[in-house]
Amino acid sequence: MAKIKAGVLGATGAVGQRFIEGLKDHPWFELTSLAASERSAGKKYSEAARWRLESEMPENAADMTVVNVNPKEVDADVVFSALPSDEAKRVELDFAAAGFAVASNAGAYRMAADVPLLIPECNQEHLEIVKIQQEKRGWSTGGFLTTNPNCTTIMFTLALKPLMKFGIKSVQVASMQAVSGAGYEGVPSMAILGNIIPYIGGEEEKVETEPQKILGTFDGQKIIDADFTVSASCHRVPVMDGHTEALWVCMAEDPTPEEVKKAMLSFDPGLGDLPTSPKKALIVKDEPDRPQPRLDRNRGNGMSISVGRIRSGIRFICMGHNTVRGAAGASILNAELMVKKGLL
Ligand SMILES: NC(=O)c1ccc[n+]([C@@H]2O[C@H](COP(=O)([O-])OP(=O)(O)OC[C@H]3O[C@@H](n4cnc5c(N)ncnc54)[C@H](OP(=O)(O)O)[C@@H]3O)[C@@H](O)[C@H]2O)c1
Repeated sequence: MAKIKAGVLGATGAVGQRFIEGLKDHPWFELTSLAASERSAGKKYSEAARWRLESEMPENAADMTVVNVNPKEVDADVVFSALPSDEAKRVELDFAAAGFAVASNAGAYRMAADVPLLIPECNQEHLEIVKIQQEKRGWSTGGFLTTNPNCTTIMFTLALKPLMKFGIKSVQVASMQAVSGAGYEGVPSMAILGNIIPYIGGEEEKVETEPQKILGTFDGQKIIDADFTVSASCHRVPVMDGHTEALWVCMAEDPTPEEVKKAMLSFDPGLGDLPTSPKKALIVKDEPDRPQPRLDRNRGNGMSISVGRIRSGIRFICMGHNTVRGAAGASILNAELMVKKGLL
């Protein structure tokens, strides 16, 4: 099949760079457009962006001229958005209205009733709601908007999915979040080195509301939230990449740790036909001191979630790569699902 043209909005930033890395040599998508602020527009990407990843800047991106974040300037069928939330709020609907499939990583529209908040392993059927979105918003151009969750939400919500059958009643989560989650200039080194910052603005509100939408049911018209509560405490720790989370999950059926482990190990979301879907969405570690961000964040090319220390209660730890599984990789997997479902 001919490759689908892909653009990146916010291409020079931390997540934008992960998009470019993730789209390099992608079997279905071809990078055709890079957009960023007017500070970068008109420059060659290699001049506009300070590449911060360990991989080389892909050559096709380096030579591309950055354009403005404007539907008239972007040449693509699907756009991956890595824009700051306020800018995303201003432009993402314009892109959808203009006929682009928008796979957004920003928080602006995650909780809008007609916008799917996708983790393909959890709620691929929610993608159907884009047809209602197009009708309701009068978009006849074929464009639509999808989102992926906050980076902290993704890790533990994926781990909760196989536990839904036990009747989840409440979840408590304490996060230990990597500095890359705040962007390169987000947390000054003098604030975080040898330190922990027990506050991340706006994070707990997202973590306490997004999982119920993701694990909710789509009745053909609307998404009905799952009926459990989440209580969160979010903390920034001096780790480069990889969010670690401690979970306490109360369930009606009160499963044993062995039953929880079995449910996680047998979890097969049936997405093996998507190019970046990891062989195992959930990896269960038996060693008492795992998962650890430095050792486990790159499992499944950064797309697997590692779980460990499953104890009665039920308590466990989960961990995943925040800028891959928690950001760019999540949007790319969502776009692969759109292709599979015939929307692209
Ligand atoms: N970092 C993470 O782990 C993570 C995880 C999940 C979600 N997110 C979300 O992803 C988004 C991007 O985060 P980030 O860490 O990549 O941010 P970032 O490093 O600050 O990058 C922001 C990007 O947006 C562009 N931009 C900024 N203001 C703009 C404007 N007014 N008009 C057009 N373009 C503008 C910047 O272009 P210039 O270079 O030209 O200024 C840059 O390309 C945010 O919504 C964030 O909440 C981040």
